[in-house]
Amino acid sequence: MKLINLDHVAIAVHDLELALDGYRTRYRVEPLYREVVEAQGVEEAMIPVGGSFVQLLRPLGADTPVGRFLESKGEGLHHVAYAVASIDIALEHLREEGARLVDEAARPGGRGTRIAFVHPADLTGTLIELVELPA
Ligand code: CO
Repeated sequence: MKLINLDHVAIAVHDLELALDGYRTRYRVEPLYREVVEAQGVEEAMIPVGGSFVQLLRPLGADTPVGRFLESKGEGLHHVAYAVASIDIALEHLREEGARLVDEAARPGGRGTRIAFVHPADLTGTLIELVELPA
């Protein structure tokens, strides 16, 4: 397995409307879609930039992973997401490598994707999301 694309860069925000207005006026870009992903406790807006997205994340509540992130660190870069051909093969490889995984198995993400997170303590202090796009 290897990484095949930078799928998105995710930024945690308090106010999705405010953040989208900022991207609209400062950078002249528009979200392609918005989606509530209950499984992750977020509403996300995906802004296409080239072949990748900027993903703005608003927590659905304070007691969610992104809610706790905002509380402790404030708005800012939350994770980087890389596309892989097969999330199951990627997870198997990472387990063999002894990587510190957040998710032992794939779970549903937005856009019908399957995703899994790798712990920031595993490599360079960055929370990494692996994404398998729907066929
Ligand atoms: Co993401």
